[in-house]
Amino acid sequence: MARVERLICESAALEEDGRGVRFELHPQAPGAQTGFAIRSAGIARAYVNRCPHMGTELDWQPGEFFDIARLYLVCSTHGAMFEPGTGYCVAGPCRGASLERLEIREREGRIVLLTDSAGTNREEPDAP
Ligand code: FES
Repeated sequence: MARVERLICESAALEEDGRGVRFELHPQAPGAQTGFAIRSAGIARAYVNRCPHMGTELDWQPGEFFDIARLYLVCSTHGAMFEPGTGYCVAGPCRGASLERLEIREREGRIVLLTDSAGTNREEPDAP
């Protein structure tokens, strides 16, 4: 299946260890599941916005994923803390678990999500 790129945001929208960007994971079903992108150590990364503890979204305000010290991503529900570079949980009720990582690329000033489909329900054409 062909790889498809979908624009998430402009590169400048991701602050270093600061505000991130939420986005729909399934644009054809708004609200079903969100992902988020952040920047840490200069590298843009993205994860499914779902805490491994109870499945809630992480951000404590829309787009705010880092703790006050800007060292870890923090779950707003029970305070689990995750390494921004790996999504690995270092403290909290789901310690040892990880956020689900999403494949993104940064090029030409934009952050794009890579998916295996167009991110829609469109069916693939039949092979000739
Ligand atoms: S739901 Fe995230 S720590 Fe409980």
